Amino acid sequence: MKKQIISKILFALIGIISISSCALDNDETTASFFSSQEFELISNSLSMENILPNYSSSEEENRDMLFDAKALLGRVLFYDDHLSIDNSISCASCHDQKLGFADDKAFSEGINGQVTERNSIAFSALGSDNSSDNPYFGGDDSFGASMFWDHRASSVTEQLKETIENDIEMGMPLAELPGKLNELDYMQMLFKKAYSDGDPYYTIQEDDILDALLKFMQSLNPSNSKFDKFNESRFTGQSSTVQLTVSEEQGLFLYENNCGSCHGFDAGHPAPRTANNGLDMIYTDSGDGNDKFKIPALRNVALSGPYMHDGRFETLEDVIEHYSSGINKTSNLSHDFSHLFINQVGNQRGFDFTEQEKTALLQFLNTLTDESFINDPRFESPF
Ligand code: HEC
Ligand code: HEC
Repeated sequence: MKKQIISKILFALIGIISISSCALDNDETTASFFSSQEFELISNSLSMENILPNYSSSEEENRDMLFDAKALLGRVLFYDDHLSIDNSISCASCHDQKLGFADDKAFSEGINGQVTERNSIAFSALGSDNSSDNPYFGGDDSFGASMFWDHRASSVTEQLKETIENDIEMGMPLAELPGKLNELDYMQMLFKKAYSDGDPYYTIQEDDILDALLKFMQSLNPSNSKFDKFNESRFTGQSSTVQLTVSEEQGLFLYENNCGSCHGFDAGHPAPRTANNGLDMIYTDSGDGNDKFKIPALRNVALSGPYMHDGRFETLEDVIEHYSSGINKTSNLSHDFSHLFINQVGNQRGFDFTEQEKTALLQFLNTLTDESFINDPRFESPF
């Protein structure tokens, strides 16, 4: 009798342990997409809670599973050290989800202990693959914002090619990457699943690597910050459950009047043009050639310091102080600033914010943090 009870308890315990140790959630949708063999291979190589998350942002029943499989593969590639020549660096080494996909250094470390020449850039508004409504996608669209601090890449795909091959960052010749990834059984399977279109002889292609990474990047769309929720109600006219504090709202007003013309009124999209914000009288890095640089989106900006193309400012307080009192009147200074430069007695000036205004602006910038984005398991490391 006793024995029976003990064995019942043991049985129940084993049940609980085996349920909780099953890291993957093989729900029905996923099961219909991956065979049990494929599922096992994924379970052995990767550790994810949900094996095939919905990246296509459509309703669960209308999911585009092929898109999801491509984006999932992009995520695996994004976090995989095999993308660098010596298997030491992944995209995530310099783009950390918890930091809005920037990092916390002025210059990031690439292969062989080398450091990048510029500050890593946080990701924003990569949400749509329709370039006409997504200014982030340059290249095919004249309204588009190009990639990098100097806008030298006209599209994400161009950016990807350069980054993977860049001698400092990953140093991996693209032509050799398919062969290298083909050696990894989980890569082979995931690529086949997403790109073979039923061809049993399919092998990994360069274009498919770029496409998968692009699809993952497109699914990254931080748009659920306190400010977003507040802003949405302003445009729909519906009363919002989220209110800004008096100080945050004053910060928003200051932002709209002093910063919005460049950084955009939703602060979520990089601008299609470059600009000079008076960091120095003489620029050692000339950016796009005219001392002008990308105007970054400010979504998650509280997490992505240090700031500017060379990471010169540690904190947002430093940045605000720059705009308030530190702007240099260089010859390429952007026009948006020009009118601010001469005060009533003819002297040079900046925005001259009061201490209270600086605090308000800082508090507003803090409302741009999207906690659900930086904690979204769909974007976490799959390893
Ligand atoms: C060694 C660090 C490092 C690695 C590895 C790295 N990046 Fe970057 N990334 C940077 C830096 C630094 C910049 C800015 C470079 C510049 O503007 O000249 C940047 C810029 C970008 C941009 C441009 C963002 C914008 O708004 O213009 C994107 C997108 C990007 N990286 C994605 C990736 C992806 C995807 C990978 C992996 C394939 C990757 N990065 C690997 C450091 C890195
Ligand atoms: C004339 C256009 C312009 C205006 C107006 C402007 N900025 Fe900027 N901002 C830029 C440019 C260009 C950069 C990048 C400069 C560089 O790195 O060389 C930048 C960079 C920044 C950064 C650093 C972002 C990062 O990821 O490193 C912050 C924060 C910022 N601006 C906030 C503000 C605030 C707050 C205001 C208003 C008080 C403002 N900006 C007004 C053009 C502008």
